[in-house]
Amino acid sequence: MAKLERRSWAEPFKIKVVEPLKMTTPEERLAAIQEAGYNTFLLRSEDVYIDLLTDSGTNAMSDNQWAGMMLGDEAYAGSKNYYHLEENVQKYYGYKYLVPTHQGRGAENIISQILIKKGDFVPGNMYFTTTRLHQELCGGTFIDIIVDDAHDSQKLVPFKGNVDLQKLEDLIARVGAEKIPYVSVAATVNMAGGQPISMENLRTVRALTSKHGIKVIMDATRAVENAYFIKTREAGFADSTIAAILKEMCSYTDGATMSGKKDLLVNIGGFLALNDYDVFEEARNLVVVYEGLHTYGGLAGRDLEAMARGIDEAVQYDHIKARIGQVEYVGEKLLSIGVPIVQPIGGHAIFLDAKRFYPHIPQTEFPAQTLAAELYLDSGIRAMERGIVSAGRNKETGDNYYPKLELVRLTFPRRVYTQAHCDVLAESVESVFENRENISGLKMIYEPKYLRFFQARFERL
Ligand code: F0G
Repeated sequence: MAKLERRSWAEPFKIKVVEPLKMTTPEERLAAIQEAGYNTFLLRSEDVYIDLLTDSGTNAMSDNQWAGMMLGDEAYAGSKNYYHLEENVQKYYGYKYLVPTHQGRGAENIISQILIKKGDFVPGNMYFTTTRLHQELCGGTFIDIIVDDAHDSQKLVPFKGNVDLQKLEDLIARVGAEKIPYVSVAATVNMAGGQPISMENLRTVRALTSKHGIKVIMDATRAVENAYFIKTREAGFADSTIAAILKEMCSYTDGATMSGKKDLLVNIGGFLALNDYDVFEEARNLVVVYEGLHTYGGLAGRDLEAMARGIDEAVQYDHIKARIGQVEYVGEKLLSIGVPIVQPIGGHAIFLDAKRFYPHIPQTEFPAQTLAAELYLDSGIRAMERGIVSAGRNKETGDNYYPKLELVRLTFPRRVYTQAHCDVLAESVESVFENRENISGLKMIYEPKYLRFFQARFERL
């Protein structure tokens, strides 16, 4: 009898409720993508087979979280679910004060308004779309201080999300510490391909900023995923729990913005967490203007409860290993058939390298946007452009940014798809790859003013 090659591992959960998927024909998909202006954001979800647009708010909640939803205390003020969330944020993230928000950008808005003055500079380990926009709307200028390796889709280094300390020191010398309200540190770095920052780097950023009286605000959206990479890649952490690593990461920062829609296994929710009482006091006041009272921040009590319970589940090693393991499974399959992807494989997504996938399509003809449309046409899989369309324009000159990375993100919702879905995905990417030479680019026929990737429309050239 032939012997199996290895011992497999599987998801640490079983399925209790299922959501049927619609299967579409190639003709239906062509009509749908044309109607959507070749923008996968404008597709109807009903027309999508496997939805890898984002891992944001697309998670499957556990029975324990759903049970918590029934325990929503929908009081306008002082809901018990708020206190449960506060307790878990303090326990796992270690910050003293909590301001809930409806999602991550709500927290970004508030912290930007409090800390940034017109003419300030906000350095960060690569931009994120909403984060940078809020910094700019407050009169700040974002400065990218991520290590150069992050812009190289092939460089195999373990912590491509690290801050380049020399770039940070140079900025401080050039503009002065008083013009830098905080360093914006993301863990992991979404736009670099879900790449992590090391504990060592966080520690050094803290030491350097402390010397100059500059704050550090972490984007903790996928910090649990980052903690898994620290555990598996950084010397000295192999025996630490995910929870302990997460807490240590946060200890090198003054506060965090959080989109609970990722790590925390919910469909909606976020928060701002802080250590400085005065900043908290202002945030608690501002949140009333934009989100709702400071004990609900735009969320129902049941949403606060689901998020509080989600933190307990997110930091379980078996969960996070399976979550990142699924992404690795697909990534390794694609690498084995020669598909160009960002390496190392990131935490929440596989990033197809559209510049190398379609070397004959110039960046001005949107290779990543084209590739996302082709994937949908092939199999009904929905991905997201993360290239020139997402990068937008320079707010002063109006010129397009031309990011080095022109990527298509295949983003994995947590606990939603099976390994068979993953196989279908890999086979579809392979088929689009085999047909790559027959494909031409797109032209943009409608461009909205803010975050254009969400609503821009395209036509085939
Ligand atoms: N920070 C990061 C790193 C993110 O990935 C996101 C959202 C946000 C902040 C904003 O949070 O959506 O709750 O307001 N990223 C989603 C994505 C949209 O698809 O990557 P939000």
